[in-house]
Amino acid sequence: MTAKTPQPGDLSPIETASRDEIAALQLERLRKTLRHAYDNVPHYRKAFDAKGVHPDDLKRLEDLRNFPFTTKEDLRQNYPFGMFAVPRERLARLHASSGTTGKPTVVGYTLNDISTWADLVARSIRAAGGRPGDTCHVAYGYGLFTGGLGAHYGAERAGCTVIPMSGGQTEKQVQLIMDLKPDIIMVTPSYSLVIAEEFDRLGIAPEDISLRVGIFGAEPWGEGMRHEIERKLGLDAVDIYGLSEVMGPGVAQECIETKDGPVIWEDHFYPEIIDPDTGEVVPDGEEGELVFTSLTKEALPIVRYRTRDLTRLLPPTARSFRRMGRITGRSDDMLIIRGVNVFPTQIEEQILRDPLLNGNYQIIVSRENLLDNVEIRCELQHEQDHASAEAMARSAKQLQHHIKTNIGISTLVTVMHYGELPRTQTGKARRVFDKRPKQD
Ligand code: DLL
Repeated sequence: MTAKTPQPGDLSPIETASRDEIAALQLERLRKTLRHAYDNVPHYRKAFDAKGVHPDDLKRLEDLRNFPFTTKEDLRQNYPFGMFAVPRERLARLHASSGTTGKPTVVGYTLNDISTWADLVARSIRAAGGRPGDTCHVAYGYGLFTGGLGAHYGAERAGCTVIPMSGGQTEKQVQLIMDLKPDIIMVTPSYSLVIAEEFDRLGIAPEDISLRVGIFGAEPWGEGMRHEIERKLGLDAVDIYGLSEVMGPGVAQECIETKDGPVIWEDHFYPEIIDPDTGEVVPDGEEGELVFTSLTKEALPIVRYRTRDLTRLLPPTARSFRRMGRITGRSDDMLIIRGVNVFPTQIEEQILRDPLLNGNYQIIVSRENLLDNVEIRCELQHEQDHASAEAMARSAKQLQHHIKTNIGISTLVTVMHYGELPRTQTGKARRVFDKRPKQD
């Protein structure tokens, strides 16, 4: 049975502490982190000096806004080991995050960092409704990506029996889920739908699947996708957020009892939201770019890291920590179509309004005679695959209309038969194919 309301002993005291206690802990840890970064990472010493700030200048949490930002470019320029605050021999593990261009970003962990990470993923699993004794199927990719191993260590720490399946081999995923009867699955939302399709192909109904909770993250997804996944796999779907540069999965986790956005584990990560254009901090509740400063990391302390993720900070509900809203997009994957800012998730939302269509789609952007053209390719649900050509054309037309009226761009929509679009085998779906010539 799902224990939806946390029981005594499920939560660590800091999760229900007062805001004053949290702020005091944050200030103490922030001071240590700034000092650690300044003393041990030449990049930070240079950047702080250039801005005329010193770790001792931090008297209040708000003083952090005087310190310089760190970007992915800084990590690239210090590739591979330049950002580490401990000697290479003290690194217990390296991971790398896929860069869209050039070199990957290398991140590293001491044994203590790995232990803290496991604690936070374990805390995340508990927030998602997982309990010791549960079986947890990990279908995030194992390897340089932080998803697989991050989830794995956390699930072990939470007292679960872990199935380290990794991504891909969809038929085997389904067979193992049927045979080993896991309670929890940790996987990207897009790949979970591929797994759901395989269940459907085999004629296995959602109520015959043992899974009770799904912990989905690593890519943006919305409420429409949540309902789609919950319906197809017969489980509660919750959101896990994280990024390699800050740690990996488990920076924030949505609670199953509220499903109202990931709770940021603020005792380990200090969040700010900034205006991506000016760099100014904006008040809680306002949308902007999420920026994180680590509070306890040894190997790779990170100061004011610009995540490029667009969201807002929300007041505490199920825990004493603040929450983040859904990621509405990234300041760098935002498409500008004939002057209109468009996020792939907005298009996804419109697609999933139509019960005929499933959550697989592609957005293809091209340019003709200096004008942007957008083609949306989407697919019928499996059970709707018998739909007539007329019904498909009607769906396409309706989606075109919804996108035009809600997002404000003209598109050409193609509704395809079930299974025609490529499926992700590695985890993260590629949604956008921008074929426009690059701007200088
Ligand atoms: O994706 C870490 C992770 C693994 C998180 C498994 C959750 C589950 P990176 O490969 O470094 O790390 O990619 C980080 O992925 O900046 C976001 O843009 C996106 N992302 C991660 N989680 C979410 C989420 C992992 N829940 C980048 N919602 C981040 C939306 C997410 N986007």
